This record gives sequence, structure tokens and C-alpha cells, in this order.
Amino acid sequence: MNTNKILETEKKVLKVYKNNNPSIHFVDKSKKKFNSRKLSMDNLILHNLKFPKKMFQGASLLDCGAGTGDTTISFNNWGANCTLIDINDEALTRAKLVFKKFKKIGSKNYFKKQSIFSLKLKKKFDIVTSIGVIHHTEYPLLALKKISKFIKKDGFLILGCATPEGFFQRNLQRYIISNFANLNNEAEVEQVAKYLFKNHLIRAHKFSGRSIKAIIHDTYVNPKIHGLTFDEINKNLQKEFSFYSAAPNINQVTDPASPLTYNSDYFTRLKNMTLLPSLTWMHNADQYLNYLKNDNKKLKNLKIITNKISKSFNNFNSETKINKKKINKLLSKNITLCKKNLFKTRIINEHKKFLLEIRNLLDNIEKKNINKIKDLLDKNKILFKKSSGLGNNYYIFQKK
Ligand SMILES: C[S@@+](CC[C@H](N)C(=O)[O-])C[C@H]1O[C@@H](n2cnc3c(N)ncnc32)[C@H](O)[C@@H]1O
Repeated sequence: MNTNKILETEKKVLKVYKNNNPSIHFVDKSKKKFNSRKLSMDNLILHNLKFPKKMFQGASLLDCGAGTGDTTISFNNWGANCTLIDINDEALTRAKLVFKKFKKIGSKNYFKKQSIFSLKLKKKFDIVTSIGVIHHTEYPLLALKKISKFIKKDGFLILGCATPEGFFQRNLQRYIISNFANLNNEAEVEQVAKYLFKNHLIRAHKFSGRSIKAIIHDTYVNPKIHGLTFDEINKNLQKEFSFYSAAPNINQVTDPASPLTYNSDYFTRLKNMTLLPSLTWMHNADQYLNYLKNDNKKLKNLKIITNKISKSFNNFNSETKINKKKINKLLSKNITLCKKNLFKTRIINEHKKFLLEIRNLLDNIEKKNINKIKDLLDKNKILFKKSSGLGNNYYIFQKK
């Protein structure tokens, strides 16, 4: 660990955030904005991560890299007494205002200008949260280790972090921009980004409500976006934590053993299976959903026949007559359907096209002709179309 490097990165990241703070969700501007953020948090934490609201009731919560408190205030409103730490004192000043206006009456909250890397606290917490922070630090895995130290036994870690897959397209955009602009020159980066990635920026603005300038700063000017794979996170936590949930769901492959016996360790045994969700994070959300919708329809027959096959043996007893001929027919039908409809192959097909577009782009980038690159990007069918990958993934782990 190089302390100078940590401080250098903090300084550079802070400069970007002091210009344009990405954690402002304008919750103080109107009740409508407050409710809209609250709804997103309900959806993320309570619905998608399946963490019951009552877990926050009276809990002590440490938010590492809390920023302006626009996110932490939801944890507080669900009943947590919050300690907010961040390296940005301006963000914390705003967080105090947000809490003054919206905090749960009677709750006790603390604000501390402090880095994750030098954080010293006497107590441990029921819940530690860190949303969109550790990938902006010099050593994300070390940051993860530092924050997880502050969790009580049986307590929870709620983590939001970029993945290399989800951020792949945006990293590629950073690389492309670097061919035509000095990444340390904000004005140059802005100009090139607006020319090459106009549609992406408009879309991101529409969906996040942030200004185009703020998006450019957060995505391209920000000097540090070091994502972690789920496997890296899990490997580092698995000795002391058990996996609780993830959004989007990493848990597409389930252990066939009894839930009374298996635990999250099956990720270690089946670790290559996490490739399929990773590919979907790399691609475009809407396109993926359309495939799934189509394949969902096509899976109808497979589902009906599978059902018939399992029902054929249902309630089997000495009197049951098995119609082997009928079952064989059903089996053959399903084998054919499987060959045609194994829906995940579509993602692989899409991935092949995606890789070809990337190769074509890399073949041409050396020529340093920005107009040609723009032309090429416009013609792409997958790369940089739609969402350009998933910005943040979220996980909950429980301390053993
Ligand atoms: C993208 S913002 C996220 C803020 C907030 N968690 C949210 O969900 O909106 C990242 C925050 O991490 C803070 N940060 C970056 N490096 C940090 C460090 N080493 N220690 C503490 N906070 C840090 C930044 O100042 C910034 O407020």
C-alpha cells in the first residue's frame, strides 16, 4: 500500500467532485424529487436486494463515502442512526442540510470528514453501506477490507460498485477520447465526448437527470474508475461474510442441493457460471430484455412439456401405469426445443457481434481520424448503443 498514491488519487477525485458532485439527487428541491429518490431506494434495497425495511429500525449505520447524503437519508428514514463519512467537506455540509430538513425525528446522526483509508472508529455498526465509492479509490479491495472491519457479527454490508464488465463500454469510450484529447484537459474531453458520444450523453442525461457536463466529468474526466468483479469481491469477503443478495442478480445458477445445506460458497465451485450475467451487464439493457421477452415466449412449449414429463411421474405408486411411449415422445420433443431455444446462446451470438464491432473500432483508431471513427460508431448496431453497459452493481453480504 502506497499512502502517497492513495492521497494523490483522493486529491484528483475530489477536484472533479468539487466541480460537479455526482451524488446530488436534488432531494431538497421539492417533495416530488425527494419521493422520486426514495422510490428508487425502495426499489433497490427493499425490492431488488430483498433487504427488509425493518432491518434499519434502530440500527447503527455507517455510510462510507456518503457524499451529499441524498442516498443516506433513505436509510435514516427507514429508522437507522447514521454516521456519514466522506473526504469532501462541501458534500458533508450539504448532507447536514439534507438531514436537518428530512431526518427521522429522534434519530442521532454524525458527520465526519474522513477517508476510508484512515478511518478510525471505536465502535462497530449493524450496517455498513458504501455506494459508488470504492471504485474511485486507489485500492478498491483494500477499501473494501477497511470498511468491512466496522461491521458487527451478523451485521450487513450494502455495497454499490462498478464492475469491469458493466463499465467496459465506458472505459472503451475513455480510451477512444484519449486518442483525440488530453484526458487532463476538461475542455478538450468535453468537446470530443460531445462529438463522438452525443447520443449516449443525451440518453444518460434523460435517465439520470444529471447535466451532460456532470456526466462527462463523472465518466470521462474522473481519473479513477477501478471496477471490481463479483468474483473478486466474493473471494475477498467469503471467509468472513456470506453472500446475501445482488442486484442485478448474479445468482442465476442455483445450487441444486437442499437449501438447508448449501451456502454461498457454491460461487467458488461454479465460478465460471457468473460469465452469463457479466455479459449481460456489458451489453445493452433494453436489447437484452427484448431477447428475454422473445425467448420467454418461445420457452412456453418447453415449459409445458417439461411440466407434462414431471407430472407423468407425480404421485407415483404401485398402481401407477407409466406410458413409456408417450413420455419418450415428450422427451424427444423437448430435446428438439432445447436445441432451438437454449436462450442464453442469443446472448453469446450478440456478444460475438459486439466483439467484431470492437475489433473494427480498434483497427481504425490508430489512424487518428476522428470523423472516420464517428462514422464507424454511428454504423455500429450494438457497441455504445442504448445504455452502454451497467454503471453500478449492488450487493449485500452478512458478517459471519
Ligand atoms: C459517486 S459519489 C457517491 C456518493 C454517495 N455514496 C451516493 O450514493 O450518492 C463518491 C463519493 O465517494 C467519496 N470518496 C472518494 N474517495 C473516498 C475515500 N477515500 N474516502 C471516503 N470517501 C471517498 C467522494 O468524495 C464522493 O462523495
